[in-house]
Amino acid sequence: MGIFWLILCCLSLATASPESQEHESSNNGTAQLKVYHVRGKGSSLVQNSTWSLSDVLLHDEEHVKALTKRLKKKHVKSPSGSRPKLGHLVKPSSASIPLNPGRSIGSGNYYVKLGLGSPPKFNSMIIDTGSSLSWVQCQPCVVSCYPQVDPLFDPKASTSYKKLSCDSPECSSLKSATLNDPKCTNAGSCLYTASYGDSSVSIGYLSQDSLTLSPSQSLPSFTYGCGQYNEGLFGRASGIVGLARDKLSMITQVSTKYGASFTYCLPTATSGSSGGGFLSIGTVSPSSYKFTPMLKNSQNPSLYFLRLATINVGGQPLRLSPSDYSVPTFIDSGTVITRLPMSMYSVLRDAFVKIMSTKYAKAPAFSILDACFKGNLKTITAVPEISMIFQGGAGLPLGAHNSLIEAENGVTCLAFSNSSGIAIIGNHQQQTFSIAYDVSNSRIGFAPGGCH
Ligand SMILES: *[C@@H]1O[C@H](CO)[C@@H](O)[C@H](O)[C@H]1NC(C)=O
Ligand SMILES: *[C@@H]1O[C@H](CO)[C@@H](O)[C@H](O)[C@H]1NC(C)=O
Ligand SMILES: *[C@@H]1O[C@H](CO)[C@@H](O)[C@H](O)[C@H]1NC(C)=O
Repeated sequence: MGIFWLILCCLSLATASPESQEHESSNNGTAQLKVYHVRGKGSSLVQNSTWSLSDVLLHDEEHVKALTKRLKKKHVKSPSGSRPKLGHLVKPSSASIPLNPGRSIGSGNYYVKLGLGSPPKFNSMIIDTGSSLSWVQCQPCVVSCYPQVDPLFDPKASTSYKKLSCDSPECSSLKSATLNDPKCTNAGSCLYTASYGDSSVSIGYLSQDSLTLSPSQSLPSFTYGCGQYNEGLFGRASGIVGLARDKLSMITQVSTKYGASFTYCLPTATSGSSGGGFLSIGTVSPSSYKFTPMLKNSQNPSLYFLRLATINVGGQPLRLSPSDYSVPTFIDSGTVITRLPMSMYSVLRDAFVKIMSTKYAKAPAFSILDACFKGNLKTITAVPEISMIFQGGAGLPLGAHNSLIEAENGVTCLAFSNSSGIAIIGNHQQQTFSIAYDVSNSRIGFAPGGCH
């Protein structure tokens, strides 16, 4: 609550002179906020921060805690309506854009470049299937912006920018999109709050502007957040693009043009911009995929739930019961390491370690990863295949690059960890598969060898 109050105070104060470099506060309550003063273009803000796996894993753990909190009830029900149907999936119109690993911008997630405004300014935005509202850091950064790689988005430089008012229908949709109530400024503008755990937040004006996916593909009146107080573990990305299932999600907003479906391939984290990753909106060619039903959880209906049927290690199913597999399970592009409840994780880890330790020496645990071996990905070659099979037979037969992660020089760890009461299929395990979110037909498809 403190944060809402503080930003109300500051936003009404500061917008009068966006060029000013100091924002005085009439109330000493703001003293506890760290205020960055924006000088000219955002590029001068870029700091020297290098990518570190321990930071990424700390962030990942916090992200998972925040997601877990929202899913206290352990009950998954099937989507309303009948079984998934085969449909005519390919829409006349579709868009495909390159998708890059976030390592070069200090993130364990993935980003796309999206154009905002007229003329369009391109922003590196993290793709997140675990949240709905999209936002970018926005001038004049009334309270604070963290350093980012792109110039800061300046709404004043866009001829199509529009702030949304408190009584707009989009403002009323914020509660379900962000799970936080919207707030009003004195002038009647709508304020959103997007929070991602204890220390990551974006607060600002709910806005609309044109969205450019590629030079030939753009949409007017895209609803997103123009962030004035941004803090947290987003690397040096400009913001987040929300791909969950809520009304304000980017996917829902573009569905009238492209249909409610999207596909992506996440390249390996070390592949840079040459990994062939992509995000396609509106294209699912059913023949290439094996599908599993997309489920809905009443605690967070916008996430993409599915049902694990079996996990095999080295061709042998783990000794787990069907009730173990009934744990709420969702797939998330914004979580790095796959999480399983301890009862499942320990069985997986023990089966994997049993086979691995015949060939490789064990190494100490690294952060949340507790099954580590001496060697790097090049030298550890005899890796038992872990295969996650979902209801209906679709699955992720993991390669060594999906099962293992290099923690530090000469230490490589099993890239799974434990969680409490939920399972999350993380992006490390999704790498190089093509994954189709066929929302209109309530099904998720997997195909190996997905990156171009
Ligand atoms: C803020 O604090 C300063 C010193 O701590 C004090 O002089 C000033 O009167 C305070 N301002 C308000 C508005 O409370
Ligand atoms: C950035 O940090 C690295 C590692 O600490 C250092 O080697 C490099 O010189 C720094 N670069 C700049 C521009 O400060
Ligand atoms: C995972 O297991 C470790 C070790 O047993 C425990 O300390 C930690 O709290 C567990 N994490 C979660 C999220 O349950």
